[in-house]
Amino acid sequence: MPDLLVKLYNISDNSSVYKELEEKGIKIIRPMTPNKYKVHEFVLKHFHEGWANEVDTAFTRFPVSCFVAVDMATKEILGFAGYDCTYKAYFGPTGVDETKRKLGIGKALLLRCMEALRDEGYAYAIIGSAGPVHFYEKCCGATVIEDSSPGIYASLI
Ligand SMILES: CC(C)(COP(=O)(O)OP(=O)(O)OC[C@H]1O[C@@H](n2cnc3c(N)ncnc32)[C@H](O)[C@@H]1OP(=O)(O)O)[C@@H](O)C(=O)NCCC(=O)NCCS
Repeated sequence: MPDLLVKLYNISDNSSVYKELEEKGIKIIRPMTPNKYKVHEFVLKHFHEGWANEVDTAFTRFPVSCFVAVDMATKEILGFAGYDCTYKAYFGPTGVDETKRKLGIGKALLLRCMEALRDEGYAYAIIGSAGPVHFYEKCCGATVIEDSSPGIYASLI
């Protein structure tokens, strides 16, 4: 799976994306360190240990470098996305509870991370080992980086 490049200077105002989600009772928030284990457990339950370990890195940084989608009524986590978790300027890992997909959560998490990377001084972001390439092309204009697979992941054991 290839890495993708995102031009952060082209990321525009996404307030309508978040507003639309809030109308469905879902809010994108930056979790606080007391919720580190809650986020880790969500990722472990819905995805796998590798991603749960990666997102732990977000809680070693200030600001915490991940966002979660939360059901405003139940406080349940529905999805997550990290950045600067694997390598600098890298987006990911990310994932949405399988029963809550196609509601706009994945896109909102992605765009919120891109805004954060831009605001922290990056000009470009890299989406590491992208699975759903078309999702990223559609949501943030990402383009494939040639010869980037396996890229940094070649040293993964
Ligand atoms: C990829 C993922 C995060 C998308 O989350 P989601 O909440 O379902 O996505 P959204 O509802 O925000 O989708 C936004 C748009 O992208 C489209 N889209 C969603 N998943 C897509 C996919 N796999 N391929 C192409 N388009 C996709 C949606 O149809 C929607 O289009 P629209 O705006 O025209 O309606 C989710 O499918 C997931 O968790 N997948 C498993 C983990 C994974 O692959 N993570 C990425 C690793 S690189």
